Amino acid sequence: MVSTSLPALNVNLSRIRTAIQALQPQLVEWRRVLHQRPELGFQEELTAGFVAQKLREWGIPHQTGIAQTGVVATVTGSQPGPVLAIRADMDALPIQEENEVPYRSQHPGKMHACGHDGHTTIALGTAYYLSQHPERFAGTVKFIFQPAEEGPGGAEPMIREGVLQNPQVDAVIGLHLWNNLPLGTVGIREGALMAAVELFDCTIQGRGGHGAIPQQTIDAIVVASQVVNALQTIVSRNVDPLKAGVVTVGSFHAGHANNVIADTARLTGTVRYFDPSLKGFFRERMEQIISGICQSYGATYHLDYDEFYPPVINDRNIANLVRSIAEEVIETPIGIVPDCQTMGGEDMSYFLQEVPGCYFFLGAANLSKGLAYPHHHPRFDFDETALGMGVEIFARCVEKFCQA
Ligand code: NI
Repeated sequence: MVSTSLPALNVNLSRIRTAIQALQPQLVEWRRVLHQRPELGFQEELTAGFVAQKLREWGIPHQTGIAQTGVVATVTGSQPGPVLAIRADMDALPIQEENEVPYRSQHPGKMHACGHDGHTTIALGTAYYLSQHPERFAGTVKFIFQPAEEGPGGAEPMIREGVLQNPQVDAVIGLHLWNNLPLGTVGIREGALMAAVELFDCTIQGRGGHGAIPQQTIDAIVVASQVVNALQTIVSRNVDPLKAGVVTVGSFHAGHANNVIADTARLTGTVRYFDPSLKGFFRERMEQIISGICQSYGATYHLDYDEFYPPVINDRNIANLVRSIAEEVIETPIGIVPDCQTMGGEDMSYFLQEVPGCYFFLGAANLSKGLAYPHHHPRFDFDETALGMGVEIFARCVEKFCQA
């Protein structure tokens, strides 16, 4: 059940500065507190409360209740300068944790199985470190603690509520702890890092009847089967082969008895692509295919199509800045995975549509410690050494972008 294809690197932590290394036990402690109290999207009351309590303790100005459970904090450098936002998501998943660890989830059926407890911790640690070292940067760092990344999406409502204004954000960075990469690596690229996520739900209405008298029926299973097959041609025949795309039918529900022809069939699935110019294309082609097939069999249909998250597109300059910092921290060029891309999605994309920025993957798997289960798995866990590395990378990005 391990997902890491790359060998573990010999992680050299010598580039992590003493003050951040000294913070490591607290980072682990905060992460484990958060891990034990996972909350689903827009229910992050305890999580946001924990974040706000720490910010209060450290005297960092912040606002709570943004897009329901979001928190925004600002840390100011010793001189005026640009505004950099650091975004961390806070929500967990509806999964029952199967790890037998002392810090396992205390909330039945809920689990931090994607590492967002780590993201919240890294942002908190960075805020603390920078608040202790305002002389190291000029300008303002805005920390965006975002709800509901796993859905229905907290980034868009936070933007609507003005988190990128007052002061106006010049650039945004964020990271995802990533078990597809071993500890000691960073996956980064300019342009598309993660895919657009679109969701569809199609009901095909035929005419049911006796399993032995098909001539009186319109068999919804036969019609829906043609649809499933024909949908495969969108990627194979309609999309430019040099542009990637996925059409997945994830569920097919129809019928209930062996001698009854099904009246309706329901198909649900997801569409993924990187190129923003493909927006609208899959939806249109899907509608054409479904409507043509249904018409030819005398069936009708209803298609719900949701353009859920746009693709995550990194700005070239900010991606180069983050890459150069990651190279400094990791020290070995082998630790940078330059063309890391996944068809997974993220609502960080909404921030990146508004301001230039960079989202990147921080390798967090460690096979030798048994920490390599994939994200969203009931045994997901990551190497907490990555927490300090994340703080170091963020802190150095601030110092470079907001040079004092
Ligand atoms: Ni995630």
